Amino acid sequence: MADAPVTDPVYQTDALIAEDIDAYLAQHQNKTLLRFITCGSVDDGKSTLIGRLLYDSKMIFEDQLAALEADSKRVGTQGGEIDFALLVDGLTAEREQGITIDVAYRFFATEKRKFIVADTPGHEQYTRNMVTGASTADLAVILIDARKGVLTQTRRHSFLAHLVGIRHIVLAVNKMDLVGYDQATFDAIVADYRQFAAEIGITAFTPIPISGFKGDNITTAPSANTPWYTGPSLIHHLETVEVDTTTAQGLAFRMPVQWVNRPNLDFRGFSGLITSGSVKPGDAVRIVPSGKTSTVTRVITMNGDLDEAVAGEAVTVCLADEVDCSRGDVMAAAGDPPESADQFEANLIWMSEQDLIPGRAYWLKLATQTVSATIHQPKYEIDVNSLEHLAAKTLKLNGIGVVEVTTDKPITFEPYAASKALGGFILIDKLTNATVGAGTINFSLRRAQNVHWQALEITREQHAAMKNQQACVLWFTGLSGSGKSTIANMVEKKLHRMNRHTFLLDGDNVRHGLNKDLGFTEADRIENIRRVGEVARLMADAGLIVITAFISPFRAERDMVRAMLPEGEFLEVHVDTPLAVAEARDVKGLYKKARAGQLKNFTGIDSPYEEPESPEIRIDTTAMTVEQAADLIIDRLIK
Ligand code: ADX
Repeated sequence: MADAPVTDPVYQTDALIAEDIDAYLAQHQNKTLLRFITCGSVDDGKSTLIGRLLYDSKMIFEDQLAALEADSKRVGTQGGEIDFALLVDGLTAEREQGITIDVAYRFFATEKRKFIVADTPGHEQYTRNMVTGASTADLAVILIDARKGVLTQTRRHSFLAHLVGIRHIVLAVNKMDLVGYDQATFDAIVADYRQFAAEIGITAFTPIPISGFKGDNITTAPSANTPWYTGPSLIHHLETVEVDTTTAQGLAFRMPVQWVNRPNLDFRGFSGLITSGSVKPGDAVRIVPSGKTSTVTRVITMNGDLDEAVAGEAVTVCLADEVDCSRGDVMAAAGDPPESADQFEANLIWMSEQDLIPGRAYWLKLATQTVSATIHQPKYEIDVNSLEHLAAKTLKLNGIGVVEVTTDKPITFEPYAASKALGGFILIDKLTNATVGAGTINFSLRRAQNVHWQALEITREQHAAMKNQQACVLWFTGLSGSGKSTIANMVEKKLHRMNRHTFLLDGDNVRHGLNKDLGFTEADRIENIRRVGEVARLMADAGLIVITAFISPFRAERDMVRAMLPEGEFLEVHVDTPLAVAEARDVKGLYKKARAGQLKNFTGIDSPYEEPESPEIRIDTTAMTVEQAADLIIDRLIK
């Protein structure tokens, strides 16, 4: 089909409501899709611009149009002309607030291309929304008010757009009508922006002088008002800019495996979305991380076998050999596979009202992989306005920092700059299941690659066998003064008499040595338990029956230690003494101090205790003696 002349675009008139998106996209199946984001604030005329794009491509319902005309007249600020900002803001019913919040996705199409535009708010407190909208975008339209030039927020938007990997930036210098379409003003803004852009690594961008309100250089260019401008109109640029999937098609083949398709014994295929490159029968592929190689025999889609499939397509690949491959593995070009590591540096954007807790285990999802991951204290936080690096202990909502991430097993990835699909991840809170952060991987840490496990010749089983016992960790948890140490001591004495090799790790004692640098903040308690967990694991490896007595108030960390040990070797003992009883005993006088406000972060008073949900052993100290409790535990152990 010959290209329609740019000066006379015939825009399609498909009306659309959200539920019809699939049908709509199917109808425009043969057109490429450009996802873009608009960045700017209300004042920059962002809503007016989007309204104009939708209006000029006839993407407005008749009834919306009628309402809009009536509204514009009633509001009366635009001299009877249609106020496009009312259209966009009105569509999301956020007009009363005077600001746009959250991400709104809108769809429209021209003769050449279909578009999804993510409209996100520009205010600093909405960094989270902007990143959400930008993460799938190919292009960002950064709006500038020609009267104001490059502002702090312009920098912030550009930085975030660049951070999430958007390669195409349009600098839309808006409200040119209000500066008399002055070329010098436009040139000065572009020069100013170019200097800033270079600092953050944006090497190319497309500046366009526009007026969203009057329509200059939106659909046709050059506008009679800007004869000095020889570049494309905004729509023409959006229609012709190369999209990311096209770029990805030229890269090495990668397909994160979503599932193994095995309907019967005669067929076994691996299904997933090709994130880069292409694949065809005869290609040599490698499964990462196992490193096994094989040859592709078939590439299948819903519509039958393909000669070749490219990035952006969902396919099922069959291999010549019976190689081990499951969900989470990545199928890649045999000669050019991605790397695997369990430690890497990343940029992290925090999206939760609850601060990041360094040391806590979160779920990390990257492509089709889900692993347990901990974030270390940020190397620094980035001030999104000044781009300064600030010292930080944690990240708050909308905070962005550079962090080190450790995963409990290696994941297959690529730096985000090379692959959004294999370099971007989200973090999920294990208890609430909420997405709390989004990250982009910079590089793996060399220490992860160079520190290998040394295979030990005397195994943990041999250590335990020599002691004629089965190693385990008896993990006591409960409030301060609940009786953990007393019962743990009695258990150890009894086991000792039975010739068992034991060792007791006690909170108060460990805090005088190994953990004397730690206090009682949430982060310190987490680190306390992490270290004790590691020590307990080593001792269990040495064949000992390890007994620990720590408040260990958080479920997440107790579960973390549980996960460090082989199944069945972690026995959680909940010393379940009601707060009132522990407080009445107040053996060390600490509750009294805490109540008087002289001791901060005291468990049960102004710091939480999360009870075990299903401990192996529960001890009700109000119903039995220390002796009985110890016997109960030993019975469970020696059964
Ligand atoms: S944990 O929460 O990190 O597991 P841990 O068991 O090591 O605590 O230490 C608890 C002991 O430290 C208590 O038994 C008490 O003697 C003492 N302690 C001092 N300050 C506090 C506090 N703010 N909260 C709880 N225990 C405290």
